[in-house]
Amino acid sequence: MSASAPVVAVVGATGAAGGTVLRVLAERAFPLGELRLLASERSDGAVLQFGDASLTVRPVSDATLDGVDIAFFAAGALTSRRHAPAVAARGGAAVDKSSAYRMDPEVPLVVPEVNAATLAGHRGIVANPNCVTIPLTVVLAPLHRAFGLRHVTLATYQAASGAGRDLVAELALQERADAEGSEPVATVYPHVLHGNVVPGGWRMHGADTDEEVKIIAETRRVLELPELPVSVTTVRVPVAVAHSAAVWVELDSRADAAAAREVLAAAPGVVVVDDPESQRYPTPRSVAGTDDVQVGRIRVDTGRENGLALFFSADNLRKGAATNAVQVAELLLAG
Ligand SMILES: NC(=O)c1ccc[n+]([C@@H]2O[C@H](COP(=O)([O-])OP(=O)(O)OC[C@H]3O[C@@H](n4cnc5c(N)ncnc54)[C@H](OP(=O)(O)O)[C@@H]3O)[C@@H](O)[C@H]2O)c1
Repeated sequence: MSASAPVVAVVGATGAAGGTVLRVLAERAFPLGELRLLASERSDGAVLQFGDASLTVRPVSDATLDGVDIAFFAAGALTSRRHAPAVAARGGAAVDKSSAYRMDPEVPLVVPEVNAATLAGHRGIVANPNCVTIPLTVVLAPLHRAFGLRHVTLATYQAASGAGRDLVAELALQERADAEGSEPVATVYPHVLHGNVVPGGWRMHGADTDEEVKIIAETRRVLELPELPVSVTTVRVPVAVAHSAAVWVELDSRADAAAAREVLAAAPGVVVVDDPESQRYPTPRSVAGTDDVQVGRIRVDTGRENGLALFFSADNLRKGAATNAVQVAELLLAG
């Protein structure tokens, strides 16, 4: 692979996560020998802008991936399972945003701020955690190093874009319908999201949502704490971009708010926004469009031994997806 001019493909370039990969590649001046935009047959011939260039989208196939050094996969697990192994077999690297390989012990599951060392010895496929697990582990890893984690509880507030471009479009239509006094329609999601809060919409695994199961398993894997108790309820909220979560942790040793703030302020990727008297705390609006994980409302939780409570927000399309993937690719190029 040429580190200065790699052949790069973005699979799912027409989607919410893939489109953000394009933006982040341009912003970070990622070295590009060639850039291929790939998606399904539906998008064949569509033209997307990348900087000053107009690039034509092609269907993903063995032929369109031939000779690719780095392929970003953001087109669902089936597409990754079908095509990522071929990229790896031909000596390239697949950086996968889907859930396909996240729990495969042969595939590292990487958040660069937390476990970049696990990239060593990868076999051509690198998985990225889901868009809640990434910011959650960016926040939990420094707390674990400083105080030891015993238990994590969280409730999420997840944006529409986490479910893809179609739910963002549906939310906008529903907002307009509500403003005009007509009945909003839900076809993408099981409930009208506008003016609502929905504790579901994911596939179910028994009593738990698919998202809850992923957050528990992926958080344990990234933190290398296979027994860590994680309690989670996932909720979709009528926000276009940026996921948030209220988090309660039980620690091995007692930490007051000032000590926790100090640890978090020094952690890579974390920005402490914590002055509630002045109405300063993380919000989806303030973090959207950035790569930060904003953390605030940091306080002792007197309801449990050595307890801390906090709230975070992070852009699910950037740090939760594209930025994390591009950071991984930068590490791959650096060797
Ligand atoms: N949205 C997020 O916040 C987020 C965060 C982390 C991970 N992810 C992951 O990223 C992936 C894409 O999610 P998204 O939210 O970006 O969805 P999306 O907005 O609905 O976009 C889906 C993309 O996948 C492409 N695609 C669908 N089926 C395909 C197929 N059979 N072959 C090739 N391309 C196909 C679509 O191409 P067409 O335009 O041709 O249909 C489109 O580019 C998923 O695996 C998701 O889990 C998303």
